[in-house]
Amino acid sequence: MIVSHNTSTRRHPERSGQALAAALFWIFGALLFVAPFYRAPDALGEEGLDAGRNAEMDIPFTQDVADFTADFEIDLAPAMEEASEEFFGLESPTLISSGVIHAARVRSGEVSYMRHCVGCHGSTGDGAGPATRYLDPRPRNFRRGVFKFTSTVSGGRPLPADIFKTITAGLAGSSMPDFRLVSEERRWDLVEYVRYIAMRGEFEQLALDIAWDEEELPDFEEAAEIVLERWSLKKVKAVYPAISETDYDADSIERGRAMFVDAQGANCASCHGNGGAGDGPAADGKTDDWGYPLKPRDLRPGTYRAGQEPADLYRSISTGINGTPMPSYLGAFEPEQIWDLVHFVQSLAGTDGGAR
Ligand code: HEC
Ligand code: HEC
Repeated sequence: MIVSHNTSTRRHPERSGQALAAALFWIFGALLFVAPFYRAPDALGEEGLDAGRNAEMDIPFTQDVADFTADFEIDLAPAMEEASEEFFGLESPTLISSGVIHAARVRSGEVSYMRHCVGCHGSTGDGAGPATRYLDPRPRNFRRGVFKFTSTVSGGRPLPADIFKTITAGLAGSSMPDFRLVSEERRWDLVEYVRYIAMRGEFEQLALDIAWDEEELPDFEEAAEIVLERWSLKKVKAVYPAISETDYDADSIERGRAMFVDAQGANCASCHGNGGAGDGPAADGKTDDWGYPLKPRDLRPGTYRAGQEPADLYRSISTGINGTPMPSYLGAFEPEQIWDLVHFVQSLAGTDGGAR
């Protein structure tokens, strides 16, 4: 797919030094600017796909496209590629007029992404960068639109500010580094790029799902509308604690503890264990929505990925953590009770040295 740039060396053998320099310049330029657009075969199309790698990485997508084509004799990959460009290409009138992303930031974000993120999150955002095989938890596959550490309702898309926070602070206890040294402007560009590839991936996944359901080429336009609607900043709403924080005291902690361990109550202990070590009776055998094993968090180190503020804990407990077995408790408890749970969780911090 990437065009060959060595024609100039062939045409001017007498000036091969210069030509070589020019070729290197163009190859470098192409890598920098073309690579982000390059739809790697592991994202679309079956050629060149190494089955072992596919099995190991979180990219069931390609195989699904190939299976669909085999089952229904409908060539989905080229149609998908065309529709993806039509609705989610950076020149796409549909995308631009939707106002869902800032196109100018996406372009700049792409450059920073290729520098800082691609090694883990992969060039298409599928989380299958070269470093992924060594990492646990795995770098996020953005292409499903699912984000774990959000301030929005369960199952909702993240706010730009949620992604900004993740990039700025990193995710404690995982390999996701913080990027405080990247300027604030560039971090906002990265946010737009991450949102962009997440939407585009989600669109392709949704179109594929519809194709399977309807056993024909999907209505791509409808799929695009659904995805744009989900990401629309008018639709994405933050959840705030319903009441301001209650007193952090021994009584509140004790009420929180009682709920935490009560099998008829919040029953957090079933996963997190009575002492919060992540060793409850239901802790084993859990997986996340990307299909990988996931342990309930050990709460003793006191580092939280959604943020260190009490309000961040309040939100994680009330809305759950998308893509993981950590459920949403919104509506199940009164706001005071959620604050009691927050206080109990906070009281666990540092209780046992805290191996992560
Ligand atoms: C060394 C590997 C590594 C690098 C480099 C890296 N990440 Fe991550 N990233 C991770 C891991 C691992 C996770 C998942 C952590 C988890 O599931 O708790 C993650 C998760 C994320 C998430 C998802 C948070 C959520 O709510 O689900 C975002 C957004 C993100 N990274 C953005 C970036 C951006 C932008 C860059 C580059 C500026 C970057 N990452 C660089 C490893 C990395
Ligand atoms: C079904 C199992 C399950 C139950 C029940 C459960 N959790 Fe979790 N919890 C998890 C898993 C899994 C994670 C790790 C998610 C991740 O980061 O990948 C987690 C993570 C957390 C975190 C870390 C959030 C962060 O920002 O890093 C907190 C705090 C937490 N749970 C508190 C609770 C409380 C309080 C309850 C009860 C009200 C509870 N959990 C019930 C499975 C569970």
